[in-house]
Amino acid sequence: MNRTDLNTKLTQQASVMQSFDMREAFAQDDSRTSKFVLQTSDIYLDYSKNLINEETLSLLLKFAQEKGVLNKFKQQLAGEMVNPTENQAATHTAMRRTAIPTADGEAMTLAKEAEQARARMYKLRQDIVKGKITGIGGKPFKRVINLGIGGSHLGGAMLVAALPAADNSFQVEFVSSLSPTALKFDSKEDAETSLIILSSKSFGTEETFANAQRVFDYYESCGGSPSDLMLHNFYAITASPDKAEKYGLSKDRVFTMPQSVGGRYSIWSAIGLPIIFHCGMDAYEQLIKGANGMDEHCADTSPDNNMPLILALLSYWYVNYLGTSSICINVYEHNLAEFPAFLQQLIMESSGKSATLAGGQGAKSEIVWGGEGTGIQHSYMQLCHQGNQLIPTDFIVGANPPRWLKSNSKYGSKQMQMHKVQVAHALAQSQALLIGRSKEEAAKEARNKGLANEYISHLEMPGNRPSNTLVYGSLSAEVLGALIALYEHKTALFCYLSDINPFDQWGVELGKQLSAGIKKGLTSPQDATAGSYDQSTAKLINYIKSVPE
Ligand code: F6P
Repeated sequence: MNRTDLNTKLTQQASVMQSFDMREAFAQDDSRTSKFVLQTSDIYLDYSKNLINEETLSLLLKFAQEKGVLNKFKQQLAGEMVNPTENQAATHTAMRRTAIPTADGEAMTLAKEAEQARARMYKLRQDIVKGKITGIGGKPFKRVINLGIGGSHLGGAMLVAALPAADNSFQVEFVSSLSPTALKFDSKEDAETSLIILSSKSFGTEETFANAQRVFDYYESCGGSPSDLMLHNFYAITASPDKAEKYGLSKDRVFTMPQSVGGRYSIWSAIGLPIIFHCGMDAYEQLIKGANGMDEHCADTSPDNNMPLILALLSYWYVNYLGTSSICINVYEHNLAEFPAFLQQLIMESSGKSATLAGGQGAKSEIVWGGEGTGIQHSYMQLCHQGNQLIPTDFIVGANPPRWLKSNSKYGSKQMQMHKVQVAHALAQSQALLIGRSKEEAAKEARNKGLANEYISHLEMPGNRPSNTLVYGSLSAEVLGALIALYEHKTALFCYLSDINPFDQWGVELGKQLSAGIKKGLTSPQDATAGSYDQSTAKLINYIKSVPE
């Protein structure tokens, strides 16, 4: 069956599924869950609470087959050019030692270079912990501050928040914002005991270098020499080492990453340095192991058992045939609180495009939002349960608390029980989305609450709302590696299904270019309406300048 026929069939299936009710499907088939569940070494996926039946899934799998998305994935793993608008490969998987045979040696060469870079980063950490490398004036480092943004910030910040520190050698922090409150030093000594990592693949991002300048300005305001500080306290990570050298950093202070590793996919490259400072070599190796396991799962597993592909097909089905526009991704583990923000860049900077590689403009993608349970149940879950929008939802849950919390104390075991309460809430949210509250149940609830009959409809909940539940054993570097790779591959496969280029981001440049002219307008005494701004921007510039400080 060709692509057009499949699209017709899927469109017909979508109209059939308008009357589909998961509650009836579960009632009629008590093996539904076993049909719609997958397990890898690290993750259990229950996708039975979705608006699909076996016919739907079969058509989607045929579509994936016809599009050859898993073959395209293997080409990606092999280092072939899958990013045509930048004429590049996408080699983040090579950074984590893909064991998959490659079409050419490029991916394996990169894997070897990545291993060498890691060895250098591990040694740097060790030399600093042992005091062989210190900050200016021979002072040991206390803070490690990563200056970066987007892919040079989000992944590291998420992983450092998620994983325990290897030891108490230093506090690892991430600064991306230009707000004056985002980066603070208490004293000259504080600056002198801070190791600054300049993370920028392009070595040209305005915010990152404005923050570096803030460090220099602060140090100079304390009577220190910025160039000396750079000499002793700065390191850089970039795909443009020549620019780093021009900036004043010697080669031994620069870690390079390949141009073919996308920013949002770059924690596996030298951009991982702050993560290594925080969690150490063993944990970082576990992170890579977990991701590599998911690479192999995605490359070697049949489509119907392929977890990233199933997740990609579900999103493709919702966005293109059931008309959804967003996906809500919720974690039920405090340490993963930064994970939704990380996924926002990964998914929306990869798939947030309408142009297709065939030259069309019809591609659709999903808005990614989400947060940490159970807080979300006291904020936006109201809309998910009773709003008008259909919002597919992922719940990410650990069956048990992190092993590193294990304690024999009475208090410790009580903490472990608290984790189970969280798990119960996660499953309850997924169940509530499924079962809803019928008119009869709402009427009973209204009576119990003494509400007038006219308000019964306000208590009804439609239910039949889809969710995936992803369960891992307990949070660890390996699990996190697998989880990150799962969403990386889901994103790439979704883009291959949609004929979108997952690895470019041409939409981010215009705003940056326009900001230069607006900055000028904000500091010029001239009336902005005399400038080349649109009317709204000109008036905003004038107003902002008129507001007394
Ligand atoms: O502007 C978007 C972007 O290019 C992201 O793709 C990237 O992760 C971020 O900016 C930071 O870029 P760099 O690492 O080159 O400073």
